[in-house]
Amino acid sequence: MKPINIIDLGEEYTFIKKDIERELAGCLKSQSWILGKKVSEFEAKAARYLSAKYTIGVASGTDALVLSLRALAITLRKKGYFDKKDEIITTPFTFVATAEAIVRSGATPVFVDINSDTFNICPQKLKKAITKNTVGILPVHLFGLACCMDKISEIAKKHDLFVVEDAAQAFGCSYQGKKIGSFGDLSAFSFFPSKNLGSFGDAGLVATSNSRLAELVRVLRNHGQSKKYKADYIGYNSRLDSIQAAILIVKLKHIDKFNQLRRKVAKEYDRLFRSIKQVQAPRAYSELNHIYNLYTIKVFSKRDELSKYLNSQGIASRIYYPVPLYEMKAFKGIKAKGDFKAVREILPKVLSLPMHPFLRDSQIKYIARNVHSFFSK
Ligand SMILES: Cc1ncc(COP(=O)(O)O)c(C=O)c1O
Repeated sequence: MKPINIIDLGEEYTFIKKDIERELAGCLKSQSWILGKKVSEFEAKAARYLSAKYTIGVASGTDALVLSLRALAITLRKKGYFDKKDEIITTPFTFVATAEAIVRSGATPVFVDINSDTFNICPQKLKKAITKNTVGILPVHLFGLACCMDKISEIAKKHDLFVVEDAAQAFGCSYQGKKIGSFGDLSAFSFFPSKNLGSFGDAGLVATSNSRLAELVRVLRNHGQSKKYKADYIGYNSRLDSIQAAILIVKLKHIDKFNQLRRKVAKEYDRLFRSIKQVQAPRAYSELNHIYNLYTIKVFSKRDELSKYLNSQGIASRIYYPVPLYEMKAFKGIKAKGDFKAVREILPKVLSLPMHPFLRDSQIKYIARNVHSFFSK
């Protein structure tokens, strides 16, 4: 059996090669590289797909978060940045960019524990962390599973807080039939190549249905200029480029099919893991419509040994995430609310297995067989 990687972008490329090559040839012919027609076309198609009124293509998922928060800061604070005393509640079990963006907008992240089944922020604990300084909530739809957006939206409404969704890992996922990215005041998507909708470099998108916030993000991505040579705010060079937009136009056409194939892979994994008591498959509730950006299991004993064993059998696995953000030097001194029982419980257990739309049945069976034989030794 050939080594099995966590993702296989080559397989996906083979599937869409012709369309990609045609789109890229169009880009070369037009010699239009930054923003332009392809970016507007992708933005319009993504807006339709997400049921958002406005979408703004930016340079990365991190920038999508930073620009969303800056747009809110401009509307809420005279300086255009949040104050350090402004608190934004988020999860510590995520990629560093989530909380980094909060700090870069001037505010302070407040970390709250997760639900150990969904790996997402726990609404009850979130509620308890609200203070007079809380200005917003930044939930992360981790691994492609939606947060409880009805509860989070209700809390936000009650306490007059904004919501920015970190949907970096969840393009196409929905919650109670409504697309992720349409719940918050703004939502941030990443098209990092390994994401379920990935470009061929860095790229991101902001979605919102608020025209003022959309306009601010559009201005911020282009050096804060509302017109050429008229900078109203300190902004960013965060424009999506035409090549990434052209690639994303092709991939967007297939996203529902690719997400469906990911679900099929997950279903087969789930079935095969049912008989292995040392392993728990990811919890997928029907109304949460998991898109399995990652397939992350809980391993109840010898997680690291299992990972090494799988590696020796040509099977890649990764630990997302080995360190919670409140333990990182960059966030030293930042408020962490509670005892983080759930985070501490899952940290030694989580293991992400190969997951992509083209993972074959024989590969899934080979992986499950090896997990089985490791625990039968
Ligand atoms: C949860 C989360 N937030 C934010 C980001 C940042 O996205 P990007 O790498 O496109 O800047 C990522 C991607 O790695 C992510 O997984």
